[in-house]
Amino acid sequence: MSGSKVAVVGATGAVGETILRVLEERAFPVDRLGAFASRDRAAAVRFRGQAHDVEATSYDRLAPYDVVLFAGGDDASKDLGRRLAEAGKLVSDNSSTYRMELDVPLVVPDVNPHALGSARLAPVANCSTIQLVLALKPLRDAAGLRTVRVASYQSVSGAGRPALERLEAEERALHGVALASDATPFPSAIARNVIPQIGSFDDAGNSTEEKKIVEETRKILELPTLHVAATTVRVPVRYAHSEAIFVETERDTSVEELSRAIAAQPGVKLVTEGIVTPRDVEGQDMVYVGRLRAEEGSRRHFQLWVVGDNLRIGAATTAVRLAELMLVRRAEHAA
Ligand SMILES: NC(=O)c1ccc[n+]([C@@H]2O[C@H](COP(=O)([O-])OP(=O)(O)OC[C@H]3O[C@@H](n4cnc5c(N)ncnc54)[C@H](OP(=O)(O)O)[C@@H]3O)[C@@H](O)[C@H]2O)c1
Repeated sequence: MSGSKVAVVGATGAVGETILRVLEERAFPVDRLGAFASRDRAAAVRFRGQAHDVEATSYDRLAPYDVVLFAGGDDASKDLGRRLAEAGKLVSDNSSTYRMELDVPLVVPDVNPHALGSARLAPVANCSTIQLVLALKPLRDAAGLRTVRVASYQSVSGAGRPALERLEAEERALHGVALASDATPFPSAIARNVIPQIGSFDDAGNSTEEKKIVEETRKILELPTLHVAATTVRVPVRYAHSEAIFVETERDTSVEELSRAIAAQPGVKLVTEGIVTPRDVEGQDMVYVGRLRAEEGSRRHFQLWVVGDNLRIGAATTAVRLAELMLVRRAEHAA
């Protein structure tokens, strides 16, 4: 691949910083890097050993770039993402702005790369959805899916850098260091607690995070009527989300058959001995599936435990892989 001018929006945030690291690690062809956030700052981020200034985000400032990776929240991409793609730029976006738009594909590279087509706008799915569909795809292919129920145990970094700082402050407060502020991104205390609310509730009592998981899972797995139910919970873990998943398959199957399917799924590692925890997978791009078992000898009902790093596979690595795929598709088209 020849080099590109690459912009990262939200470069000072938890996901943006991880995107910079993943671009380096994967030797993404960057000729020129632009770092953007909500305001100008000198030498605020590092890329390939060098400090880079951060600029306030605007269309005119992003227009010279070939590839734009948004990790700045809904506000950052909603007016700019589609406009840049229509101007010929390749855009990936970690926000939820475009995920459910009918004319925009929602792709997880190891699940449904065919759906990307020649799109220039590629939203990154919700972090909990990404690890869920990576685990479900081999089950869908092996035995079909009738129902999916999931309870999540989501890390604090999933709510960004201010959330990590809040957890640290509350942990210090437990040891007598007074909290500097009451301001918190959480609806309740997070240290030594679990919070069964991520986002706001609708009239039926479902949270925005739960609705994202339901809708995005159906779209990515191309199962528009799949029964999906989710309860999402924030836990005082720094990095990596965990999920307890309960599935009903369409056809009779077995732990052995499903294990073979999971073991063959790219991007997924099957754990058959012992357990896997969020601390085990920090900094990794693989999603780990463990504790696969049948419910009381059932041939249709199974349970599994899935863990993945929300900042890597749940955000930055998927964003960079989508940009790589779009560059490949563009080169194929031009050839
Ligand atoms: N954290 C995760 O695990 C995760 C996973 C999947 C998707 N996401 C999504 O990724 C995005 C970033 O999340 P994060 O966790 O990295 O949040 P974060 O740590 O709070 O960082 C937010 C970043 O966005 C920048 N920003 C805020 N408003 C902006 C605007 N209007 N224009 C340009 N930049 C703006 C901030 O810049 P300043 O420094 O100038 O404020 C900062 O660089 C969000 O859409 C989030 O929902 C996060």
